[in-house]
Amino acid sequence: MVNIKTPQEIEQMRPACHHAANTLVMIEAYIQPGITTNEINEIVHDYTIKHGAIPAPLNYHGFPKSVCTSVNHVVCHGIPSDKQLKNGDIINVDVTSIINGWHGDTSKTFYVGEPKIRTKKVTEVARKALELGMSVVKPGATLGDIGYIIQQYVEGEKCGVVREYCGHGIGRVFHEDPQVLHYGKANTGMVLKQGMVFTIEPMVNIGKAAVKVLGDKWTVVTRDKSLSAQFEHTLLVTGDGVEILTLPDVI
Ligand code: MF3
Ligand code: CO
Ligand code: CO
Repeated sequence: MVNIKTPQEIEQMRPACHHAANTLVMIEAYIQPGITTNEINEIVHDYTIKHGAIPAPLNYHGFPKSVCTSVNHVVCHGIPSDKQLKNGDIINVDVTSIINGWHGDTSKTFYVGEPKIRTKKVTEVARKALELGMSVVKPGATLGDIGYIIQQYVEGEKCGVVREYCGHGIGRVFHEDPQVLHYGKANTGMVLKQGMVFTIEPMVNIGKAAVKVLGDKWTVVTRDKSLSAQFEHTLLVTGDGVEILTLPDVI
């Protein structure tokens, strides 16, 4: 069941969404060769608490840290560790914050030091895949329209789009209906309505689309060890289009 948010509920959701976006702005300066993903986790955790927010990943179905950090061939749900980032890596930082019981969920892939040709390619395809997905969101469009435009673009770039994980409705609950697939057919699936709030978060592999989960039960990697990148926003369907809720506060 997809719940439509009232204008008042949207106002209640904005602080969590802004906070998650602000966290990504804040963390960018720290993404340098030599930092460990545990250090990134601590910085995100402390910043979140300091601003009166709760890091949603911590203890979510047993996830052990406050943020997901997915490096190189890790697709998503990477667990922060003592491993250092090195020049030429890419890292997706996926932040979900709770304020007043409402969630905001956003992620970005960052270059560590100087990007290589392949890291740049997969990252820019993932960035554009999210942009294209957002561009078709409006009342009367369908979920299939979002999946279709993303899949067409990503596969046209000879990259793979991950099937096993999808965007999702979000609000008082971290993951709720609908499921927002990043592949599909135009003019199929649920019709979008004003007041729906969901994420789009395509995972793009420079190799094949297939993934597997590691023994830690969280870390998702590409089967062929190819690089993977992802961007995510929390979105509101407005009267005539889309509003990105996970934009940073203007300072
Ligand atoms: N933030 C992820 C998403 O975009 C979910 C992470 S679940 C966690 O949906 F437990 F790994 F944090
Ligand atoms: Co999400
Ligand atoms: Co997320």
